[in-house]
Amino acid sequence: MTGISADALHLWSIPLHTSKSQVAQLREVLSASEREKAESFLLDAQTQRYIVCRGAVRQIVAGYLEMAPKQLSLVNGKFGKPQLEHQDSLWFNITHSGDLAVLAISTIGEVGVDIEQIRPIRGLSRMVDRCLAPGERPDVLRLPAAEKDRQFLRYWTHKEAYLKTFGVGIRRPLEKLEIDLTAPPSRRIMNHFGHFPDELAASVTEFCPAEGFVGAISVCGSLPADIAAQAWVGGRFRAQRVG
Ligand SMILES: CC(C)(COP(=O)(O)OP(=O)(O)OC[C@H]1O[C@@H](n2cnc3c(N)ncnc32)[C@H](O)[C@@H]1OP(=O)(O)O)[C@@H](O)C(=O)NCCC(=O)NCCS
Repeated sequence: MTGISADALHLWSIPLHTSKSQVAQLREVLSASEREKAESFLLDAQTQRYIVCRGAVRQIVAGYLEMAPKQLSLVNGKFGKPQLEHQDSLWFNITHSGDLAVLAISTIGEVGVDIEQIRPIRGLSRMVDRCLAPGERPDVLRLPAAEKDRQFLRYWTHKEAYLKTFGVGIRRPLEKLEIDLTAPPSRRIMNHFGHFPDELAASVTEFCPAEGFVGAISVCGSLPADIAAQAWVGGRFRAQRVG
């Protein structure tokens, strides 16, 4: 493996809007089933975003493993989490919102990541009741209207990143997963009342993927002191600060 040490966590931001020729090149590195999925979207823009995201993920992950992007063998877990086949020392997870995707790469253990573009949440008070624990709700509802959406999305990304770590995806009852946004990463998941994975062993923290977005990352184990952040730009890589 190259470019990553043991116990490391890397974040890659991937802008999904790119040229037609770049999309065509990236399509070439996808597997047959990924191409089939790409073609199944209703809108061309969705097809292109999926191709760019999967193509970039293949390029980046293959770089760590010193393989050709097309040779990577990706399989889906029980609830659809893409994983590397025959690999027990490199884990990854993908998230996208709007025109941005983020890929998290870990040598610590299973990883989950979620980003959300900050936007008005339709039916916010109903969403707060459905998705937040009673102890979390005042932390959103007490805020002025302009800040409520962002605060709700901070809780949401923490919950989703945590559940994606274990590959289960978003599962109800989300209000039984209680987060303390002010706690250190190893204690942010305060309680899940027995409804979610038995382990509370994941550490969760937040990062800023780009202006106007919130993001959270979760890993089975301890978070490293420094999370390296880089950007993938049309097949070229450049270092940047995320968060
Ligand atoms: C997976 C899930 C959390 C995605 O939520 P989202 O907010 O729409 O999307 P995000 O952008 O944050 O994440 C999507 C990515 O997560 C990954 N993913 C898919 N299923 C996952 C799972 N169970 N656990 C972790 N990651 C998953 C994929 O890479 C996906 O992107 P891709 O399809 O372009 O590769 C949500 O769809 C879910 O909870 N699904 C439940 C699992 C399920 O019932 N699947 C049905 C098929 S078995």
